[in-house]
Amino acid sequence: MLENDSAEMGGNSRTYLTLKALIAIIFCLIGLQYLSLLQVNEKQRRPGESRALFYFERDDQKQNSLLDDISEFLKPSVSLSELDILPLKATTTTEKKFFGNGTSSELKVCPMIPPNLHGAVKVQTDNIPSMEEMEKTYSFLEDGGRFKPNQCIARHRVAIIVPFRDREEHLRTFLFHMHSFLPRQQVDYGIFIVEQDGAGAFNRAMLLNVGAAEALKSYDFQCFIFHDVDLLPEDDRNLYTCPVQPRHMSVAINNFLYRLPYDDIFGGVSAMTVDQFRQVNGFSNMFWGWGGEDDDMSNRLRQKKLYISRYPANIARYRMLKHNKDKANPDRFKYLYSGAKRIDKDGYNSLKYKPVKIVPKRLFTWILVDLPHLTL
Ligand code: BGC
Repeated sequence: MLENDSAEMGGNSRTYLTLKALIAIIFCLIGLQYLSLLQVNEKQRRPGESRALFYFERDDQKQNSLLDDISEFLKPSVSLSELDILPLKATTTTEKKFFGNGTSSELKVCPMIPPNLHGAVKVQTDNIPSMEEMEKTYSFLEDGGRFKPNQCIARHRVAIIVPFRDREEHLRTFLFHMHSFLPRQQVDYGIFIVEQDGAGAFNRAMLLNVGAAEALKSYDFQCFIFHDVDLLPEDDRNLYTCPVQPRHMSVAINNFLYRLPYDDIFGGVSAMTVDQFRQVNGFSNMFWGWGGEDDDMSNRLRQKKLYISRYPANIARYRMLKHNKDKANPDRFKYLYSGAKRIDKDGYNSLKYKPVKIVPKRLFTWILVDLPHLTL
């Protein structure tokens, strides 16, 4: 009887020990999994991401270490590999190109870092050639202000959307600059000038929605860069590519002493993928007159758990062309405060407009549009 008891007790304690060992192994596995997740998160948080940059701008004590990180990728040879460039989604990595003389060659996908960048570039604001002269200078463009590199397959198909009215001189300066700046970046791009017809209050955001809609009708663009006509990039390492997270590009503007006016700003020049744009239902159509529409977009991004990324301020630099200040919209705060309630019904899905003209010119696609006042 005693022998049986002790044998049983020995058996129990062995089962107990095995159970303990099993639990210990399970805990070890969970711990290992947790550690590897931490590493993935760390890898994802590259120095080019905005959270890091915001923290760079806000936290003086951490500046030095982050500055070291950033300085590494400001050297032209290594800088761009660290920026938030969307991984290539296209399945094609080579393409056959046929030449007039019957020969052909295989094209490869363009390198992640465009090889012929200059870094800081000169911004010319006087003696801008006429449109006709520019059409000759930029004869490599296809109609609609379209460009594709011919030595490789572009990684990004980008529609540059510019809201416009009454600024012919700015437009020439912009086109002159952009068509010499962008081809070096080896992106497949098109410029869409969306002009508001009539003399009523200007609606920048609605013009951007129209530009997005028309651009997508014309080509399979992956992303949009919403661009004020009076802002000219000063450094070609500021890549006009499709962002992983919405990217505010005009970080440092001369008129703002090359400093970001506030953290959530999303105006001037900003990039979003088509998918991100759809997620937030585009821009609100309710902002007539100057101001607020970009802040409303910034709120939409936050609401949909997207965040604003930025390149470093010494790369994302812009020169602003001189112009008179537009009349501010007195209703902008009202619409800003009620934005969260309107996001699903006011935007890309409720957009209505009358295209007056859509003309693919050599330097840009001109969209002249009549914007109706929409009610919700
Ligand atoms: C306006 C924005 C504008 C920003 C910078 C803000 O007060 O609401 O629309 O982009 O100022 O000028």
